[in-house]
Amino acid sequence: MSSETKKPLLACRNLFKHFGALAAVNNIDIDVYPGDVLGIGGPNGAGKTTFIDVISGINPASSGTVSLDGHDITNYGPDRICHRGMARTYQLNAGFDSLSVRDNVLVGAAFGSGDQGIPKFRYSKEMMARVDYALELVGMQDRGHLIAREVPVLDRKLLMLASAIATEPKLLLIDEPVGGLTPHEIDHVMEILRGLMKEGITIILIEHVMRFLLQLSTRVLIMHHGESIYEGAPDQLLADQQVVEVYLGEGTAKRLRHLMDQGAK
Ligand SMILES: Nc1ncnc2c1ncn2[C@@H]1O[C@H](COP(=O)(O)OP(=O)(O)O)[C@@H](O)[C@H]1O
Ligand SMILES: [Mg+2]
Repeated sequence: MSSETKKPLLACRNLFKHFGALAAVNNIDIDVYPGDVLGIGGPNGAGKTTFIDVISGINPASSGTVSLDGHDITNYGPDRICHRGMARTYQLNAGFDSLSVRDNVLVGAAFGSGDQGIPKFRYSKEMMARVDYALELVGMQDRGHLIAREVPVLDRKLLMLASAIATEPKLLLIDEPVGGLTPHEIDHVMEILRGLMKEGITIILIEHVMRFLLQLSTRVLIMHHGESIYEGAPDQLLADQQVVEVYLGEGTAKRLRHLMDQGAK
C-alpha cells in the first residue's frame, strides 16, 4: 500500500523545542506510517534525542503538534502516551538494577499498556504471557532470573528493549541501541529489530552507526542544528551533497555506497 492511501501513525507538525535561545528541535514536520522504520541520523547535538523526548512526552514541545493514530498527544505526559501505544528506550541504560530481568520486563507489562486508571494489584496471566513474548523477541527467555545489574552491556540494552516491547507499543522509539557494541553484537541487534518489524511494530530509530541505520530504515531523516536537512529513501541519502558535507564525509559515504550496492545484489 502506498503512503498516500495510509493514515500516518505518528504526525508531527511544525515541532519546536527551545532551550533558552537554542532551538534544539527546529520546525520538524514529519509523518511516520504503519510499518515504517524511520531512521534518524545527524551529528552530536543535532537534536535527535530531544526530538524523541518531545514525541514521547518526556519534555514538552515549545510549539507545534504531535498526534498518534489521529489523536492529539502534544500535551500528554509519558505515561499517558505509553498507554496510547508508544514506548521508547534510552541512549543510556535505564532499568531497575536490583530487580531480576523478568521483573524489569514485568513492570513494562503491568504498567505500560492499556487505559489504566488505578494500578494493578495482581499480575494477570496475560501480563505474564507478554513478559515471555518480549523476552523471547530479544532472545533472553533463558536469562529472566538474572539480576539486572549483573548482566553484560548487550543484555542490558536488550532488557530495556524487552521492557518497552512488553508495553505492547504500536510505535517504538529506540535511541542509539548499538553504541559501544562490537560489530558482531551490532549484527545481533539488527536481527532482533528485523524480528520486531515482522511483528508489525513501527519503529523510529536513532543511530550513529550508519550501516545499521541504512540497512534497517525504510526512510531516513537527517537532523542538523535541530532542523531536517534530509528526509527520504536510505539509498538516495548517500548522494545528497549536504548530508555528505555536514555529516558523513566523503570517505564514509563512499564506503556506505559500496555496502548498499552489495546489499542490493
Ligand atoms: N535539558 C536540556 N537543557 C538544555 N539544553 C539541552 C537539554 N537537552 C539537550 N540540550 C541541548 O540541545 C541540543 C540537542 O541535544 P540532543 O537532542 O541531545 O542531541 P543529539 O541526540 O542529536 O546528540 C544540544 O545542544 C544539547 O546541549
Ligand atoms: Mg542523543
